[in-house]
Amino acid sequence: MQPFAIAPSILSADFARLGEEVDRVLAAGADIVHFDVMDNHYVPNLTIGPMVCSALRKYGIQAPIDVHLMVKPVDRIIGDFLEAGASYITFHPEATEHIDRSLQLIKAGGAKAGLVFNPATSLDCLKYVLDKVDMVLLMSVNPGFGGQSFIPKTLDKLREARALIDQSGQTIRLEIDGGVNVKNIRSIAEAGADTFVAGSAIFGQSDYRSVIQAMRAELAG
Ligand code: DX5
Ligand code: ZN
Repeated sequence: MQPFAIAPSILSADFARLGEEVDRVLAAGADIVHFDVMDNHYVPNLTIGPMVCSALRKYGIQAPIDVHLMVKPVDRIIGDFLEAGASYITFHPEATEHIDRSLQLIKAGGAKAGLVFNPATSLDCLKYVLDKVDMVLLMSVNPGFGGQSFIPKTLDKLREARALIDQSGQTIRLEIDGGVNVKNIRSIAEAGADTFVAGSAIFGQSDYRSVIQAMRAELAG
């Protein structure tokens, strides 16, 4: 299990003041910046791309940037995110023709690679590529929008993913994304997650620090 990490999803930040928002949430104790890329094709919403990632780096953001690709196809955009300073790049297996090749593209470019599983997508392919994966991201909502409710069945899937990761003996983060808040973060951690994406739960409050502290207090149990 990796040390716990809080990864605010900037999807719920104020895009008109994005640099300041990211600064503020990092100063409030966040560990990783979760960066949601939606293409209005793989998911029914349209957000931000490599230019914005690069702009955050130029603005001075040094924290890891965790790029969650909700785009199809994925290979074409991987190079742009590598150049833009992405630290992690994760994609949905059904959004690429060749999962292993897409993972290799990310790793060859020097970023950490991950696979994202929708609530009803099986973890089956994971066992064939576990040696090329640095992060497993389980969606606990259907991707496309912030502010949805956590799907409880994801807890069973987290336990399944945790067992696979532990058996592999590798250093792999197990991230959860969707509907995470102060009330449910502890049960999510108990099911095996170590990295917690939270968008509306953090950016929906005026005091980011108090939410992040409350989450850490729950994790400390
Ligand atoms: C949804 C995105 C999430 C989203 C989470 O497709 O991948 O990262 O921002 O938002 P909350 O925490 O509000 O569910
Ligand atoms: Zn996400």
